[in-house]
Amino acid sequence: MVTGKTQVFGLIGNPVAQSFSPFIHNSLAQALGIDMTYVTFPVARGSLKDAYRGMKALGIRGMNVTVPYKGDIMAELDGVDEAAAKIGAVNTLVYEGEQVKGYNTDWIGLWRSLERRGVGLKGRRVLILGAGGSARATAVMAAKYGAVHITVANRTLEKAQAITRLIGNTYSVKTSACSIEEAEITEGYEVIFQTTSLGMYPKTEGCPIRKTRCLNTADVAVDLIYNPEETQFLAAARQAGCQTINGMEMLFFQAVRAFELWQGQRVPEDVENRCLADFKDAVAEKNNGTKP
Ligand code: ATR
Repeated sequence: MVTGKTQVFGLIGNPVAQSFSPFIHNSLAQALGIDMTYVTFPVARGSLKDAYRGMKALGIRGMNVTVPYKGDIMAELDGVDEAAAKIGAVNTLVYEGEQVKGYNTDWIGLWRSLERRGVGLKGRRVLILGAGGSARATAVMAAKYGAVHITVANRTLEKAQAITRLIGNTYSVKTSACSIEEAEITEGYEVIFQTTSLGMYPKTEGCPIRKTRCLNTADVAVDLIYNPEETQFLAAARQAGCQTINGMEMLFFQAVRAFELWQGQRVPEDVENRCLADFKDAVAEKNNGTKP
C-alpha cells in the first residue's frame, strides 16, 4: 500500500511505457517488505534538466535513466562512478548525502547473468559484435573480469576502434578491432557477445553474422537481446554447440544492482530467485501474449 511515507523511485527516458523496471523493483520491494514504489516518467527531449531538478525538488530517492539520456545526464550529476565514466553512460542515480552520483549497472547485470551459469572470462578470448553503448558496457566488463584478448567487430570500424583504444589504454588486455565480415570467418574466439539490435523483435530474421566459422571455437554465445528469447544468432550458436545466454537475466540483474545501490544491501539469493522467476513469466506473457 502506498502511504504518505512511501519512498518514490523511478525511471526517466523516452519511451518508458514498455519498461520492465517497475515490475522488477516493485516485486523486490514487496518481497523484502520495503516501503517504496517505482514508477516511470516519460521525459520529452529538451526537458532532461527540468526532470533532474524535479527529481531533487520532489524528494525522489533514486532514479534509473534510459535511452536517450544515459549520456546526457552525466553533465548534470555531482559525480560519476569510474566504470560508468569509461562506458560513457549512466543508468542509475544514487544519493550520497546531498550529492547525486551516477552509476552504470548494465555491465554488472551482464556479469551476474554469466556468473550464475558458471561462465568465467579469466584468460579467455572474447569477440564483441557491435560497438554501441551495450558493446562498451560489455567490453568494460570483459576487461575487468580478466579476458586476455577482446576483439570488437562493427559495421562502422571507427566505433570499434574507439572502444578498443579505451579498453587497451585502461586495462591489461590485448585488443583488436575489425569488420563483422572479418570476424565471422575467424576462429579462436571462446566467448562471443552479440550487442547489436539485429534480430530484435519485430525484425527477428536479422542477424549480424552470415558466416558462422567464428562459432567453431566458441563455447559460450551471449545475445543481449531478450525478445525473442532465442535470436537467429543464438540459434546458430546453439547449433554450433555453444552454451547460449540471452539478455533476460542481464536486464533483471542490472535492476537488482540499482536496487542494492539505493537500499545499501545485497538482495538475498532466495528473493532474487523468486523475483527472477516471476520476471521471466511476466516477460513471456508480454512477448507471447500468453503465460508459458
Ligand atoms: P546500444 O546502446 O543498444 O548498443 P547503439 O549505440 O545504437 O545501441 O548501437 C547499435 C549497434 O548495432 C552498433 O554497433 C551498430 O553498428 P554501427 O556502429 O555501424 O551503426 C549496430 N547496428 C545497428 N544496425 C545495424 C545493421 N543493420 N547492420 C550492422 N550493424 C548494425
